[in-house]
Amino acid sequence: MAVQPAVYGASERPPRGDYTRAADDYTCAQNWAAYTEEDHDTYHRLYLRQCEQLPGLASEAFVAALPQLGAKERIPRFDDINERLYRATRWQLVAVPGLIPELAFFSLLAARKFPVTDWIRRPEEFEYIVEPDVFHDLFGHVPLLFNPMLADYMQRYGEGGLKAARLGACEMLARLYWYTIEFGLIREAAGLRAYGAGILSSHGELPYSVQSPAPQRLPLSLERTMRTRYKIDSYQQTYFVIDGFEQLFQLTAQDFEPLYARLRGLPEFAADERGA
Ligand code: PHE
Ligand code: FE
Repeated sequence: MAVQPAVYGASERPPRGDYTRAADDYTCAQNWAAYTEEDHDTYHRLYLRQCEQLPGLASEAFVAALPQLGAKERIPRFDDINERLYRATRWQLVAVPGLIPELAFFSLLAARKFPVTDWIRRPEEFEYIVEPDVFHDLFGHVPLLFNPMLADYMQRYGEGGLKAARLGACEMLARLYWYTIEFGLIREAAGLRAYGAGILSSHGELPYSVQSPAPQRLPLSLERTMRTRYKIDSYQQTYFVIDGFEQLFQLTAQDFEPLYARLRGLPEFAADERGA
């Protein structure tokens, strides 16, 4: 059966990526041989530029795990990373042609499989791309999969997603993902740092999220997060800060079913709405 591409939010053009390559679970082989020298060069330049600004801005655990991605000069083979990743936290990377539907995504995470888009942005998209590409997925997400606490959080998120789907609460749960895994900040001994993949893979948003006086930074609250809309094509105006991965893990251990029921009746917050 041919799978259909997933589209989130409004878009002018069809999603990129060849979904005819994908199996029923949306995974495909990483088409490593298809990368051109230009693709590898784009990856290398993105990697170098982002590395330069990690000190003082990226979370300690992220910086410590980054070398696990291997040589920065070429787009890695996912299977090479998998040898180290499976040993560290029993996670595996699987290639996908692009964004995949929620249920397929949750099912993979619940099985400790992280979907990584295999294509890379074009050189003219060097500064910014809305969709996740291999640089965002690898550089942004994979280092923290080597962290045992975050690795377990991601699996539980996947299981929680399957449950949220049954309860019609995917939107609320997706906001939690957005404001933690994608755009989360963490208070460390040395100061405020980023651990969210959307920030860590963005040249502009990394310094902005940690240092700019413009956005508001609230302590993570499940309720506030799940009620807050988000924008996928601009820097965030609201960030949520955790005190440690332990706190994130504890806070999300409770059964979300009563929480979803309670929040359903409450008004939403706009992405840039001020106040807790
Ligand atoms: N505790 C959540 C539930 O009962 C599942 C979950 C765990 C969600 C961790 C996100 C992160 O639905
Ligand atoms: Fe992401």
